[in-house]
Amino acid sequence: MKRTIDVCLSPALYHLYDGSDSIVVVIDVLRATSSICIAFHNGVRSMVPVSSVEQSFSYRSKGYLVAAERKGEMVDGFDMGNSPFSYMSDDVKDKDIAITTTNGTHAIEVARKNAFQIVIGSFLNLDSLANWLRGQNKNVICLCAGWKNAVNLEDTLFAGALAQQLLPDFELNNHRDSVLTSMYLYDLAKDDLQGFLSRSSHKKRLSKLNIEEDVTFCLTPNQTDVIPAMKGDSIFKLDVMQSIG
Ligand code: MLT
Repeated sequence: MKRTIDVCLSPALYHLYDGSDSIVVVIDVLRATSSICIAFHNGVRSMVPVSSVEQSFSYRSKGYLVAAERKGEMVDGFDMGNSPFSYMSDDVKDKDIAITTTNGTHAIEVARKNAFQIVIGSFLNLDSLANWLRGQNKNVICLCAGWKNAVNLEDTLFAGALAQQLLPDFELNNHRDSVLTSMYLYDLAKDDLQGFLSRSSHKKRLSKLNIEEDVTFCLTPNQTDVIPAMKGDSIFKLDVMQSIG
């Protein structure tokens, strides 16, 4: 039997999905899952995603670096926010980081309720993630983080890009149109992702904060072959996670 690919356009809809036999790809292209991918690319040892700013801060006393984003900005008193560029210095190498973001860490929390396995997806690791998923004997659910439980364009586009890559080896879930929606949108957008997203709500939010370079970076595919994956409460690089057993 062929495996299925499905797309959940918002964490608020995830109760309609059964992830127990699926690899759930959590997607928050702007910017949480892009930052997580690039953090592991730069040698971070582990990341623990948490829901609240207070929880994240409490990890400092355990020797973690602490990261928190709200309204797109770094929360005062933290080591970093949610810009991929803050995870590129040597200071993060071999470090454990606790992180909370408005939507990305919430989506991870939601997927933890029943996912067989959670991995982290972004345009930055698109091809390597697709190759790895093709080699697994599991269904795939793309869980888009959206914005505060509402649908957003950029996560939907990435889900479409991943679904297009997997389609020859996977079947569409035929009971709902979210995979088709994401693939049709990606088809329209793929030649100019930036242009297509120019009126999107989160791109506008980030533009107001003058962080256009984060957007450009996060929309540039295949900058790493790292696949971050969840084990217990933490995220590790997939090969490291497998060696822990
Ligand atoms: C989130 O988790 O809501 C986002 O990644 C927000 C951001 O761009 O920092």
